[in-house]
Amino acid sequence: MIYQIYPRSFRDANGDGDGDLEGITAELASIRELGVDAIWLSPFYPSPQQDGGYDVSDFRDVDPMFGSLDDFDALIARADELRLRVIVDLVPNHCSSEHGLFRAALAAGPGSTEREVFIFRDGRGEGGELPPNNWQSHFGGSAWTRIDEADGRAGQWCLHLFDSSQPDFNWRSPVVQEEFEQTLRFWLDRGVAGFRVDVAHSLVKHPDLPDWGGRADGGDSDGYPGHEAPMFGQPELHDIYRRWNALLREYDGERVLCAEASISPVERLAEWVRPDQMQQAFNFAFLGAEWEPESLRSVIETSLRGFDAVDAPTTWVLSNHDVVRHATRFGYPDGGRPDGTRRGDGIGPNDIQPDARRGQMLARAAAMLMLALPGGVYLYQGEELGLPDHTGLPEAARQDPTFRRTSAERLGRDGCRIPLPWTQHGPSVGFNDTGASWLPHPVGWGGYARSVQHADPCSTLSLYRAALVQRKGLSLGSGSLSWYDGLNDDVVAFVNRDVLVLLNLGTDDVTLPELAVILDSVDVTGSTSGASHTLVPDQCVWLRYEPTSQ
Ligand code: GLC
Repeated sequence: MIYQIYPRSFRDANGDGDGDLEGITAELASIRELGVDAIWLSPFYPSPQQDGGYDVSDFRDVDPMFGSLDDFDALIARADELRLRVIVDLVPNHCSSEHGLFRAALAAGPGSTEREVFIFRDGRGEGGELPPNNWQSHFGGSAWTRIDEADGRAGQWCLHLFDSSQPDFNWRSPVVQEEFEQTLRFWLDRGVAGFRVDVAHSLVKHPDLPDWGGRADGGDSDGYPGHEAPMFGQPELHDIYRRWNALLREYDGERVLCAEASISPVERLAEWVRPDQMQQAFNFAFLGAEWEPESLRSVIETSLRGFDAVDAPTTWVLSNHDVVRHATRFGYPDGGRPDGTRRGDGIGPNDIQPDARRGQMLARAAAMLMLALPGGVYLYQGEELGLPDHTGLPEAARQDPTFRRTSAERLGRDGCRIPLPWTQHGPSVGFNDTGASWLPHPVGWGGYARSVQHADPCSTLSLYRAALVQRKGLSLGSGSLSWYDGLNDDVVAFVNRDVLVLLNLGTDDVTLPELAVILDSVDVTGSTSGASHTLVPDQCVWLRYEPTSQ
């Protein structure tokens, strides 16, 4: 079970409004207490923060905003004491335009070996005034920006699949390969257990950089099947991961690589997890599934089948720092979006607002369903508190490049990155002592605070803790799933080891089988469940299953 920490929003020890490594170290015990095995830290490297730290200007240091390398070593030491493993984010597709390699490339001029480290091309059109191809950036607009050469004249174009401040590396350059091998060793030598590999599917581009009218996020669109996209899933990628896998194996103990790759279908994604490459890949099909019984069953089934086929653990994830938090998504019909916009786009004060009560109820049930599945689970900080997105964030506070690059058409991901509430009261609900905060807290945020929920046996935090204890005790992570028939079709029902899991996605109450209740998403303490033997809509229960039960 891996818990994602977004450092800028976790806990702020020095009170400057940005979370820091010291704040994380101070709270590792409370994360461990939740039943977590490992933490994954989103980037804390030096960065101008044009894309929430995913624009890295030095891959082998700590940004002063987050502390120092000594603070990182202290974090590792504390994690070791607590037997928590630490995974860090590796961002190999691009760097910040402030990175030394990019500055050198700009200074060296066209045709130089320094420019070979990135993807520079002359423009199309008579004066080179048109971008070299029609690729679009994930964050909106063209994926190319024309640079000014040293003499001040408009020059070559530079490729960036994300923001213009994030130039893409040319992975055919030995300089890039060397830079990242050094980076892997640097963090492994400091004791990390592995890496979450950012946009792992896009490092290598088709050498001809052909036009592509399909989606910038690698998904399928009319006439443009995602698997043919020239910037994703190129075969040479597998050689890179084979080399990294071998490098990790030079180190003692278990080390992992986990691919962040928006690749579908799951069978294709599973190509990334092979014994000689990555150990895990995020299962975004599950994250994006409609919470409607048939779709959900199908996504669970294909996920298990896809990863089983390559003998790798299936992974499950409901939220991260790029998507609207699931407690908010579930406040819309079928866990969808207010108006069918893209998954990563935020919700603003002018959008239809979610049904918060239903969102909370289904979020608890969904967490229980996920925590009963065999495989690996990723939690995103704050989901154990039932945090929703900030859907009322004023435009002036928005920081995500998506907002800027689409002229406010797509709101971006700030709503899921609001600093965590630790105490009910206080200037910044316990995020720090000063009240400073890089993103404003919504009204009522203190009601979700960890201290409040800690004291409440029925809180979402208590539910997560109980579910994680049971998941471990009952070895559900290493179990297997078989569907359970005989109940209404609106109930997603399966057995894993000795547990029968039932989630009611319909609108009617369902009578429960006469079995002992292990855990109930509505009634964590079990004071009333079992008595009524009814599963209400959006409720999930785990029941003690005996093979004769059906
Ligand atoms: C990944 C990160 C996202 C970032 C992007 C570019 O998708 O999760 O936050 O913006 O890569 O690095």
